[in-house]
Amino acid sequence: MALKITVIGTGYLGATHAAAMAELGFEVLGLDVVPEKIEMLTRGEVPMYEPGLEELLRKHVAGIEGSTGRLRFTMDWAEVAEFGDVHFVCVNTPQKHGEYACDMSYVDAAVESLAKHLGKPALVVGKSTVPVGSAERLAARILELAPAGGEVELAWNPEFLREGFAVGDTLHPDRIVVGVRSDRAEKTLREVYATPVGQGSPFVVTDFPTAELVKTAANSFLATKISFINAMAEVCEAAGGDVAKLAEAIGYDERIGSKFLRAGIGFGGGCLPKDIRAFMARAGELGADQALTFLREIDSINMRRRGQMVEMTREALGGGSFLGKRVAVLGATFKPDSDDVRDSPALNVAGQIHLQGGQVTVYDPKGMDNARRLFPTLGYAESADAAVRGADVVLHLTEWSEFRELDPAALGALAGTRLILDGRNALDPVLWREAGWTYRAMGRPAA
Ligand code: UDX
Repeated sequence: MALKITVIGTGYLGATHAAAMAELGFEVLGLDVVPEKIEMLTRGEVPMYEPGLEELLRKHVAGIEGSTGRLRFTMDWAEVAEFGDVHFVCVNTPQKHGEYACDMSYVDAAVESLAKHLGKPALVVGKSTVPVGSAERLAARILELAPAGGEVELAWNPEFLREGFAVGDTLHPDRIVVGVRSDRAEKTLREVYATPVGQGSPFVVTDFPTAELVKTAANSFLATKISFINAMAEVCEAAGGDVAKLAEAIGYDERIGSKFLRAGIGFGGGCLPKDIRAFMARAGELGADQALTFLREIDSINMRRRGQMVEMTREALGGGSFLGKRVAVLGATFKPDSDDVRDSPALNVAGQIHLQGGQVTVYDPKGMDNARRLFPTLGYAESADAAVRGADVVLHLTEWSEFRELDPAALGALAGTRLILDGRNALDPVLWREAGWTYRAMGRPAA
């Protein structure tokens, strides 16, 4: 009989995973503890912006006309335990307040609530990003709590999806990593992922700690690559070099590769910043802190970029105070094709300038509601044109394709001064300069 799957936690990760499992042909039951999320998902609505996700949900959510009916949602733990053969835990692990370590309270609560009801054989599969050692601890907890005892097993299966590409990354993952303690658990997960594996996704079987570490190692590597190129941008700024050319040139070396070498205001979001910090904290607990001290530097290079963007803006405006200066900010989300503003470099820069007296007006294609909620005192405009009208300087801080398609000549007629600073090295300098703009980018010569 086909496996029945449950997904616990319906944020970016869980909502996408649930829809993807239904797409792969499984009967799926999703659970969340937030009633509003469950109500929305049951109507086939996604609580965040993620390209393609709403279509996929609507294709499968029971009760929606023409759907397969394979996907349902609930808030009832007993129902989930009764329904599922495989339970994916997809709740978030944010950074703890005032500490580097990650907050495991959601994962712990989810596993405990589920385990208490597990009266039949099942595989619990952790997907959340957790400190190494968590799986071992949670396996013991499940054994303690589950009425079915040893018939319930744990596996760890980290998730690597990127926001903006969540659906594609989930259905066609680069690799599937499973940390298991038995052949039975491996066999079950091979069954779950038979389709992507059949289409060529590598299936890597490990122990618990390795599976947990793969995720944090991958994110640390990506963060390191971005901070490396941003460090090169700092040197280029000092030496008069061009970091975009430098990145292109080193990227042709296959051992280096051209991806994740875009210099600018750096990385943000709900993953990379908190993951490298949690990794450092965990290494410290394990007595291996020296191994990861370099991540401290990665973090500080990254955070320095935001301040550098503020200073570049100040300098472009003639130095001195921001008082009375009108600053248009294009982009609020931490990356394009997402409405996520968590630890967004764009919003951080906008906020710093605002707090120093600048009159900041922000426009973002999808992130306006979240940005307003996080930073209500900033000015907001309903379009790029409206944000730029009368501005003394325009800051391009999130590289939405909508901004690359702007007509520099038309925008120039609206701006107070034709001055644009590209915090993402993503606009075409030639086009903007030809339209009479002073274009400046991070780590690149002035003209
Ligand atoms: C990341 C990982 O890529 C993903 O595998 C993991 O599962 C979760 O964390 P995500 O947070 O969606 O995914 O964003 P990502 O695409 O990695 O970008 C992170 C940040 O780096 C963004 O703020 C982006 O603007 C920035 N970035 C990326 C750069 O500054 N330069 C680059 O060259 C690439």
